[in-house]
Amino acid sequence: MLNGMRRGRLYCVVCLFVSLAAAALVAVLASGTDSRAETPTQDYALTRARDQVKMLDSLYKTAVVSVTKRYEEGPPAIKVAMDVFVAMEKDGWHKAKLVDASGTPQNEANLPQTDFEKRAAKAMQAGKPYYEEVDGEGAKRTLRVATIVPAVLKRCASCHGAKEGDLLGFIRYELPVK
Ligand code: HEC
Repeated sequence: MLNGMRRGRLYCVVCLFVSLAAAALVAVLASGTDSRAETPTQDYALTRARDQVKMLDSLYKTAVVSVTKRYEEGPPAIKVAMDVFVAMEKDGWHKAKLVDASGTPQNEANLPQTDFEKRAAKAMQAGKPYYEEVDGEGAKRTLRVATIVPAVLKRCASCHGAKEGDLLGFIRYELPVK
């Protein structure tokens, strides 16, 4: 009987140590979780959408400049890019459009139309090569980006009545952030 009680007390001491150790472990883990919670949460979806714009921008610009260099005659390469823009939008991937920022476009229909396009044109004229806005909340956000399009070749400049390097316009991208 006495033995039993002593053993009981002994177990209790063991219990106390075990629960103290467990409490200490929980405290350590909890502080670990806390410090992780304090680091600002990364907006991975927005980073991915921006990276996609970078990739598309390089793709379109390389294609337009390459076609312009390789095919001396015929309709401007930008017509090819416009066909690709339409296909991308039709298939629901993203929206892209070539917009004028020179004020004297080859085609009046390319003048800035939406409020975003007007703000982007001003930003490009002020010397910014990149302009973006994020609209909406939660899963319904939209990333709008404008990237500069200068007269990168003599041929662009001469057909557009500009000097090489002059600002001609921008590509306007519209992507869901998901
Ligand atoms: C052979 C003439 C020609 C060449 C070369 C040419 N373009 Fe164009 N560009 C046009 C025409 C025509 C349009 C209007 C197309 C339309 O809307 O149907 C246009 C449209 C544009 C627009 C939209 C604004 C506007 O003026 O309507 C930009 C920006 C542009 N081109 C940039 C370039 C760049 C950059 C190059 C060189 C890589 C280039 N262009 C080469 C004739 C040319």
